[in-house]
Amino acid sequence: TSAQIGVTGLAVMGRNLARNFARNGYTVALHNRTAARTHALVEEFGHEGEFVATETAKEFVAALERPRRLVIMVKAGEPTDAVIREFAPLLEPGDMIIDGGNAHFADTRRRERELREQDIHFVGAGISGGEEGALHGPSIMPGGSPESYESLGPMLEKISAKAADGAPCVTHIGPDGAGHFVKMVHNGIEYADMQLIGEAYQLLRDVAGYEPAQIADIFRTWNTGRLDSYLIEITAEVLSHVDAATGRPFVDVVVDQAEQKGTGRWTVQIALDLGVPVSGIAEAVFARSLSGHAKLREASRGLAGPTASALGKAEAQAFADRVEQALYASKIVSYTQGFHEIAAGSEEYGWDIDLGAVSSIWRGGCIIRAAFLDRIRAAYDNRADLPSLLSDETFASEIAAAQDPWREVLVSATLQGVPTPGFAAALAYYDALRAERLPAALTQGQRDFFGAHTYRRVDREGAFHTLWGGDRSEAEA
Ligand code: 6PG
Repeated sequence: TSAQIGVTGLAVMGRNLARNFARNGYTVALHNRTAARTHALVEEFGHEGEFVATETAKEFVAALERPRRLVIMVKAGEPTDAVIREFAPLLEPGDMIIDGGNAHFADTRRRERELREQDIHFVGAGISGGEEGALHGPSIMPGGSPESYESLGPMLEKISAKAADGAPCVTHIGPDGAGHFVKMVHNGIEYADMQLIGEAYQLLRDVAGYEPAQIADIFRTWNTGRLDSYLIEITAEVLSHVDAATGRPFVDVVVDQAEQKGTGRWTVQIALDLGVPVSGIAEAVFARSLSGHAKLREASRGLAGPTASALGKAEAQAFADRVEQALYASKIVSYTQGFHEIAAGSEEYGWDIDLGAVSSIWRGGCIIRAAFLDRIRAAYDNRADLPSLLSDETFASEIAAAQDPWREVLVSATLQGVPTPGFAAALAYYDALRAERLPAALTQGQRDFFGAHTYRRVDREGAFHTLWGGDRSEAEA
């Protein structure tokens, strides 16, 4: 028997992905560093499809039909390189290695380049959707050569999630590291979405005075509207959960220090390099790191601030409606920033990424899946060269309608001392983009003053310098 695909690395993601392939009719070769895991998988799930259990790298490679398709599902970083070093010498020209982990796209670019010398296709594929997604249909973001996608595409389409219109949630993103780059930004947007939802929760709790269970109901209502999304749905589940040991809301017994594995931070680091303002994503990453500074927070607890006073019932309801508007408007801004970063990465690395296709494959399977993404896709379908999501008429008019409540929510938050860095960054971005003039002109003047860095004029071409220390006449630089 020769397997159409092989999976090495059978922790939960790898195991579920292997089962997904098998359940879709593919013969799947299995390999793991410790063979016990491989046999356990076959024992438990062998009835789901055709598996070929192998114990050594050689056996694994021999079990695959040519050209070989070998999926590695191990930890990003050195473990991925170790697995490549183990398998690459056993492969032949035309074979494919697919890395389904959360690799840094720069690593993927390097690996792709190195393996290309051996005529091996290296496909960095972002896979989103967690354990459940891996099993029942993830959103898949493969990079690598177009030839590799010809061979892999049909299989990935089969195992991927399907959007409401039946379209598979996978597309060839672009060459080399494009897939992992897009997965990275997906995670950055995931961080921003989660932060915005967190701020909405905090406002509903501290300003409106709702209890977690009531807030869960509010989120459930929102989930039937334009905010309809997986993250809103699970937020309601988490908020309505009651801790069995104490009888208290689960959210009150969890330590309020958020962790992160790195993809959100990468999104911001790369955005800084590309010069793309992803302020909403950055605030989300910083909010997580701030939460983790326990000692600093402890030392700051006594600092002065207003005491929040809860609203009356009718007021609370009206406030909740405004929070929905603020959340939606801020969400539009964070997706605007994320798509800007993808466009900039595509430009920098020559990937030619189709932003409409990206929004299309995020409609199902992934963590940020949402009805909203269908609208982003429509915006790009309408105009492929859209300068920004905010220039889409539909989004622009929705923000126009939401802006007053959005501003009011931020006023309340500020007056009551509830931190809302995500909402605030989004609004500042929006106001800065629409501003007629920015204080950047003053910044340029200051730079010219202390460092003769020169400036450009609004009325003439060229670079200029004012003799600040002398007679303040202007010279063309
Ligand atoms: C996904 C998730 C997945 C994972 C994140 C969590 O798309 O399925 O994004 O990749 O859950 O790595 O990231 P943090 O641990 O950094 O929150």
